[in-house]
Amino acid sequence: MTDLSSLARSLVVPGKGILAADESEGTADEKRLAAFGIETGPEMRRKFRDLLLATPGIEEYLSGVILYKETLSQKDTSDGIPSKEVDGLPFSELLARRGIIPGIKVDEGLEPIAEGSKETITKGLLGLPERLAEYHAEHGTQFTKWRAALRIEGDTLPSAAALVENAKRLASYACEVQRAGMVPILEPEVLLDGAHGRLRSRAVLEQTMRVLFETLNEQCADISGIIIKTSMVLSGSETGKKDTPEEVAEDTVGALMESVPREVAGIVFLSGGQTPDQATENLAAITVAARAKNAPWPLTFSYGRALQEEALSVWKGKDENVTEARAVFLARLAKVAGAIT
Ligand code: 13P
Repeated sequence: MTDLSSLARSLVVPGKGILAADESEGTADEKRLAAFGIETGPEMRRKFRDLLLATPGIEEYLSGVILYKETLSQKDTSDGIPSKEVDGLPFSELLARRGIIPGIKVDEGLEPIAEGSKETITKGLLGLPERLAEYHAEHGTQFTKWRAALRIEGDTLPSAAALVENAKRLASYACEVQRAGMVPILEPEVLLDGAHGRLRSRAVLEQTMRVLFETLNEQCADISGIIIKTSMVLSGSETGKKDTPEEVAEDTVGALMESVPREVAGIVFLSGGQTPDQATENLAAITVAARAKNAPWPLTFSYGRALQEEALSVWKGKDENVTEARAVFLARLAKVAGAIT
């Protein structure tokens, strides 16, 4: 096994998963803090990261955390919970000391693929090698994430152009990251938004992965040293249909087995707007289905919202709620990690 594939495998070890704590400034402010009535700004974003990353015991359930660049320059001060041991450590070091691998989101968000288009392409290839070198050398990051978003609309979207252009950028990104000695997570997220049925979502996931691997095969990336981050196969959010965990599992594992090569180091799931309970139950059913079908790759979680929401609603931005919010966060982590065992 190459160094990169064994590093990738260490992110998908049994019983552990990855926390996505990589929201950009705007998303952290608007969709995490303000959405829960919490003040915004750099110090509140630091406290938000501190709440999660300095929670005692997370190393039992987390192999890695995806950070955002702002967080790399911020330090833990364990607000409300004085702790000599961890006070004032950069977050990436705080994680590394606990055996949790620090990762970094390196894409720079989405822009319309063409003027007026509903579809997007992901920005961030410009200057990427320099940023990767800095994150790796100065902050000790070992893996990275790049997210593309694919919108379903009837039979027309995603367009071939959106699939191909996003796959090309994901592949270029993956090659650069491997050259820099880190493991790339490739996240072509098929969005939950829309009025499509579950079977359409399954077909789009398969098509997305096929196009991605055709493109990767033409480029330099060593696929045994990549991790795929994917959506689950679900009915569109506008249908109001609640798929059973068994339906989700059957279609998700089925689609991935049809389209993702066995050499890939692992597959991790995003929560994509599911409630924490849905994301936990669906992952448990996926784990069962993957075992029954002898799926070739390790599977685990890489959730953002489904791990954070309950903690944010307890915390409310107040120091006096930190202990209780951390307990709630740890309890959800334990449940999600329990779903994959
Ligand atoms: P969610 O679990 O909130 O979908 O976030 C995961 C992620 O990393 C999206 O890029």
